[in-house]
Amino acid sequence: MNRKAFVIGHPIAHSRSPLIHGRWLAEYGIDGSYEAVDVAPPDLPSFFARLREGEFVGGNVTIPHKETVFALCDTIDPLARTIGAVNTLVAEGGKVHGFNTDYLGFLGNLDHGAPNWSDRVGPALVLGAGGAARAILVALRSRHIPVILLNRTQATAEKLARELGGEITTGTLEDFNDRASNARLVVNTTSIGMHGTGFASFDLDRLRRGTLVTDIVYVPLETPLLAEARRRGLPTVDGLGMLLHQAVPGFAAWFGVNPEVTPELRQSIQATLEP
Ligand code: ATR
Repeated sequence: MNRKAFVIGHPIAHSRSPLIHGRWLAEYGIDGSYEAVDVAPPDLPSFFARLREGEFVGGNVTIPHKETVFALCDTIDPLARTIGAVNTLVAEGGKVHGFNTDYLGFLGNLDHGAPNWSDRVGPALVLGAGGAARAILVALRSRHIPVILLNRTQATAEKLARELGGEITTGTLEDFNDRASNARLVVNTTSIGMHGTGFASFDLDRLRRGTLVTDIVYVPLETPLLAEARRRGLPTVDGLGMLLHQAVPGFAAWFGVNPEVTPELRQSIQATLEP
C-alpha cells in the first residue's frame, strides 16, 4: 500500500522536511511518499476533508497553519495544546489527530548530542519567551528541570511562566551574568544568532565547567553563542539536530518504522543550508 504523507505550509518551498522523510523512505525501503503541498489559509478546510477521506496517512504542518489547524483537528494532544502549536497530524479512521513533536525534537537532540545531560543538577537558563520557548519549557518540565526564563521583555516571560506553571523564575537578558554560575544548561530560543548577531553583554566565563550550551538557531550552524562556548571548552549542541529529531515521531506514526538520525542524514541536510 502506498502511504502518502505531506508537509503543508504557505509558502512551502523552503521546507527541509521532504528531504529528511524522503531519505528515510528510501533507506527503509518503504512504499510511501512525502510531499510538500502549498496550502493557502482559505484552502485548509478542504485539505482536511481530503485527509479525512484517507488520501494521506498524515503529515507536518508549518507556518502559517500551526495554530489554525487546532480548530480543524478531531483530537489535540494535551502537550500540543500547552505548547500552543500543532506540527504533526495523524489521520486514522476518518479522524485527524494533532500533535507537537518539537519538544521531543529538543530532547532527542540533546540526548543524542550530550548523553545524560539531564542528570546534572541545577536549573536551565532559557533565553527568549516566544513560540519556540514554549516547546522547550514543556521539554524541560518533562525532565523535572527548573527553569530561569530570561527575556528582553520580562513581562512576556512572566506571562508565559504563569501560563505554564511549574518551577519557572523570570528575569531579563541583563540578568544572564548574575544567573550564569547557577546554570547546568543554557538554551537560546530567540532569533539572536542569525545574521551574525550575538549576546554582546554575556560573559560566558561565569558559566561553570561542563555547562551545556545549545541553540535552536541552525543557520548558521555554529552561532556566535555556540562558538564562544566552544572556545571556552564548554560542551555545545547545535540546533540542526532538533529539526531532524522532531521528524522522528511523525515518520514512526505514518510508516511504522522508528527512523534513525544518522551522521549521513545530518550531513545531507547540512549541505542544503550552506550558502
Ligand atoms: P518564535 O516563535 O521563533 O519564538 P517569537 O514568538 O516572535 O518567535 O519570539 C521571539 C523571541 O525572541 C521573544 O522572546 C523576543 O523577545 P521579546 O519578547 O522581548 O520580543 C526575542 N527576541 C527577538 N528579537 C530579539 C532581539 N533583537 N533581542 C532580544 N530578544 C529578541
